[in-house]
Amino acid sequence: MAAPIVDAEYLKEIEKARRDLRAFISSKNCAPIMLRLAWHDAGTYDVHTKTGGPNGSIRFEEEYNHGANAGLKIALDFCETIKEKHPKITYADLYQLAGVVAVEVTGGPTIDFVPGRKIACFTIQDSSVCPKEGRLPDAKKGAQHLRDIFYRMGLSDKDIVALSGAHTLGRAHPERSGFEGAWTKEPLKFDNSYFVLLFLVKSMSEKISMRMNHCHSELLQGESAGLLKLPSDKVLVEDPEFRRYVDLYAKDEDAFFKDYAESHRKLSELGFTPPSTAKADTKACVVLAQSAVGVAVAAAVVILSYFYEVTRRTK
Ligand code: HEM
Repeated sequence: MAAPIVDAEYLKEIEKARRDLRAFISSKNCAPIMLRLAWHDAGTYDVHTKTGGPNGSIRFEEEYNHGANAGLKIALDFCETIKEKHPKITYADLYQLAGVVAVEVTGGPTIDFVPGRKIACFTIQDSSVCPKEGRLPDAKKGAQHLRDIFYRMGLSDKDIVALSGAHTLGRAHPERSGFEGAWTKEPLKFDNSYFVLLFLVKSMSEKISMRMNHCHSELLQGESAGLLKLPSDKVLVEDPEFRRYVDLYAKDEDAFFKDYAESHRKLSELGFTPPSTAKADTKACVVLAQSAVGVAVAAAVVILSYFYEVTRRTK
C-alpha cells in the first residue's frame, strides 16, 4: 500500500475537492449515503492484524459486492465525479473527506480532516487488499456483537454510541438491507434527534409498563410513528453502559457533537497516523530534549560557581 505525498499542492487540491463535495452533496441531497460509504470503507479495520480500514478498498468490486455494502455503488460513482476533477487525491482520502463534508453540510459538527492515508492497490502480488466479508456490524444482533465489531477496530463503548448517532441521517431501503424507513423526522439534518427519540421511547415504555399513564402511550406513538429502530439501535438503551451515553446525548446536543466529532475522526484515521501528529510528536521530543540540555547547562553553571566560590574563600 502506498501513501500520497502530502505537499502544498496536494493540500490545495484537498481544499478544492472539499468545496466541490460541499456543492455536490448539497445539490444531490446525498449526505447520508456518502457518510455510509466513508464508514463502510473505514469500519473493516482490524487493530490486531492491521488490515482493512479507510484505504479505499471498498472501490473494488469484490468488496462493494459484500452484502453489507448493498447500494453503496451509488456513492462510489458520485465520488468518481469528484475524483475525475481531482485525480491527485487518493480514493482513501476522498471517501473520508466525503464523510466529513456530509456531516458538515447537514448541520453537524466540524470534523478535523488530515489527508495522507495509505491507499489499497490491487496488484497480482497483493490480491488480498479487500477484507473478508463479515467485518461490518449486523443490525439484527445485540450488544455483545456491537462490542466485538467495534473493539476489533480499537474503538470504545462511547465511540459505538456516538457514531450510531449518524443514524440521525438517512434511511434504510428494503432492497438493500431488508429494513425500511428513516430514524428521524428530518433525515437530512444532523442533530441529536436520534437519541431524543431512543430516550423517549425507552423512558415512556418504562413508565407505561409501570402503568403510569395511558396518554403517554398515545404521545409515544405520535412521536415515533413510522420511524425506524434497528435491533442494533434498541440495544443502546437496553445495555446500561451504552444507555449512559444515550441519556447524555439526548439531553445535551453539544456533548453529542463534541464526542461525535472525536469518534468520527478516530474512525476515519484507523490504521493511519496523520503526519501532523507524527510531526507534532517529533517537535515535542525536540523541545523536551532542548529543555533537558538547558537544565543540565544551568545546573553545571550553578555547581561550578559554587566550587569557584568555595575555592576562592579557602585561599
Ligand atoms: C452500530 C452499528 C451499525 C449498524 C448495525 C448499522 C446498520 C445500518 C443499516 C441496516 C442501514 C440501512 C441501509 C440501507 O438499507 O440503505 C444503515 C444506514 C445508515 N448508516 Fe448505519 N449502521 C451502524 C453504524 C453506523 C455508523 C457508525 C455510521 C456512520 C458513522 C452509520 C451511518 C449510516 C447512515 C448515514 C445510513 C443511511 C444511509 C442512506 O440513507 O442511504 N451507521 N445502517
